[in-house]
Amino acid sequence: MSPAEAKQQIEALSAELKQHSYNYYVLAMPAISDFEFDKKLEALAALEKQFPEFLEPDSPTQNVGGFITKEFKQVKHRWPMLSLGNTYNEQELLDFDQRIRKAIGDNFQYVCELKFDGLSMSLTYENGKLLRAVTRGDGTQGDEVTNNVRTIQSIPRQLKGGDYPAEFEIRGEVFMHLKAFERLNNERVENGEQPYANPRNFASGTVKLQDSSEVAKRPLDCFLYFLYTEKPLFKTHWESLQAVKSWGFHVNEHSRLCNDIDGVMAFIKEWDKRRFDLSYDIDGIVIKVNSYGQQEELGFTAKSPRWAISYKFKAEQVQTELLAVTYQVGRTGAVTPVANLKPVLLAGTTVKRATLHNANEMLRLDLHEGDWVFVEKGGEIIPKIINVNLEKRVAGAPTIDYVTECPACGTPLTRVEGEAAFYCPNDGGCPPQITGKMQHFIGRKAMNIDGLGDETIETLYSKGFIRHISDLYTLDQHADELKQMGRFGEKSITNMLDGIEKSKQMPFEKVLFGLGIRYIGETVAKKLTIHFKNIDNLIAATLDELIVAEEIGERIAHSLIEYFGIGQHRQEIEKLRAAGLQFVSEEKEVVLQSEALAGKTFIISGTFEKSRDELKDIIEQNGGKILSSISAKLNYLVAGDNMGPSKLEKAQKLNIPIISDEELMGMLGAV
Ligand code: IVH
Repeated sequence: MSPAEAKQQIEALSAELKQHSYNYYVLAMPAISDFEFDKKLEALAALEKQFPEFLEPDSPTQNVGGFITKEFKQVKHRWPMLSLGNTYNEQELLDFDQRIRKAIGDNFQYVCELKFDGLSMSLTYENGKLLRAVTRGDGTQGDEVTNNVRTIQSIPRQLKGGDYPAEFEIRGEVFMHLKAFERLNNERVENGEQPYANPRNFASGTVKLQDSSEVAKRPLDCFLYFLYTEKPLFKTHWESLQAVKSWGFHVNEHSRLCNDIDGVMAFIKEWDKRRFDLSYDIDGIVIKVNSYGQQEELGFTAKSPRWAISYKFKAEQVQTELLAVTYQVGRTGAVTPVANLKPVLLAGTTVKRATLHNANEMLRLDLHEGDWVFVEKGGEIIPKIINVNLEKRVAGAPTIDYVTECPACGTPLTRVEGEAAFYCPNDGGCPPQITGKMQHFIGRKAMNIDGLGDETIETLYSKGFIRHISDLYTLDQHADELKQMGRFGEKSITNMLDGIEKSKQMPFEKVLFGLGIRYIGETVAKKLTIHFKNIDNLIAATLDELIVAEEIGERIAHSLIEYFGIGQHRQEIEKLRAAGLQFVSEEKEVVLQSEALAGKTFIISGTFEKSRDELKDIIEQNGGKILSSISAKLNYLVAGDNMGPSKLEKAQKLNIPIISDEELMGMLGAV
């Protein structure tokens, strides 16, 4: 074979394999068998070996783990996604208004809209159906994230009414509500994951996730603010907003039609105050010329339209003195630096502390003792240090460096590859980690123990009464000592011991969540107890068995295996079991409705219209059995959207029939 021929073949095979990888991993719709895929991959590898000069770094043979595409398909925008010019004060806005009037005269109106702080999204609809969702990307082309966007409840998959054009594009902003942000970010911390800095990062991180079922768990919303059609349908932007609303899109209710720049100014003044009452972040106001005809007359610069501009709110900023940097050690051992500040009033509240996030942030700020810092509270909940006022720095003031040893127990800190946080590895002996784990265990979402609070845990720990969670269940043997200590009244001791006794009735899922295993949040704990029924099955489960359970991916599976692999953890579980805690899930009694699936075995994987638990019930009520892992004993794999590739691969290797939920219902005669 000549080098030219080899080059051509390598390119053709690479392109073909990339397409198959995409079909397989992104669309979950393989077009060829694994065997055929492997043959082609082998052929490509052989050619590349013979002609190494044509080996490209992005060849399917070079990717880690074979050929997993961690990327989204790139799609070119039909109309470029431009940005907006920014203004920051009244004068700049008056200048904008002057430019407009010079170009089109005085007869025009503005539409004022809130400027949502999220990520922009372009949606294409065909015959009323959502066809494609693409991120802004570089403005010319972006990532195709349709599967993820389909999980956003407020984005219609099917439009209402019938007066929409057969084909159009609509743009808007995807964002996360502040309440959901706080809840999910707290959950991340509880599960031992890094929190997101603000709702915008959380929303954009979510849209770019590979696993759409994970996206579905993080509620996003989307306001639509611009319609693109081949032929103009309306005369004004305002009309188009009303129309798209009637087609079922979420259009923000605070937009306002203004007759002149004074009206715009009034809108801005109003929302500079009211923005703190909203349930989502905005960072300014967008002002658009209403008439499409006038928009066309005004045209575009290279980067942005001349007919629209944004007005950015000033984030309120104050200066204050840095008193000290202290550190919080979380129950997972993550060590978070906190700036202690001289109290100062900011956006209506007194600020005494600001998070410094992690060691990287401290490096960026390069703090010195006695520094004066600028603190800002934008839309974000936690105040942030923007930078240091270098003019006020005292000459020779020593720097404040991130600690290298745990501030609580002195153990040298370690860093996990790819993570910004440093951890104290002494999880069995570091006091705040121990008390933090106990506080998590007794917490409202876990064992919800009445009569026992965080402070009591600290006291009981410092006095040597408790070292492990299981010690709570032998506290009754120390009732007299507790009374003698004089710290607690008789009544509160009785209440505490009663609360502890009652907690023995808490269901298995609460106990499992309470153990505080990394990445095992409330929902995951529940799914695990449903799937594995008892702790012994869960401890014995292999990686393959774990990942067939609903919502369990490899990251969670590895965390469980690591946790149960530690002897001390298993001993602790034994002590808790001996104390009478629940480690078996309450079985729901199956009422048999038919024998249609008798003797047949199933595994359900992926996302469906019904929940997987519902499908599981249906199978069991008709005599079928759910297996715990894919093996030759399996009769059917019921596959939904976004099923994990490893399961699909395994089932295909074993020639197990892969059926849809509809086909399953068909087996019952239900469709
Ligand atoms: S209109 C060509 N309207 O701000 C004009 N944009 O800085 C297209 N944004 O990329 C944008 N709220 O992500 C428009 N009500 C609103 C908006 C809005 C937020 C974002 C959008 C855009 C960026 C421009």
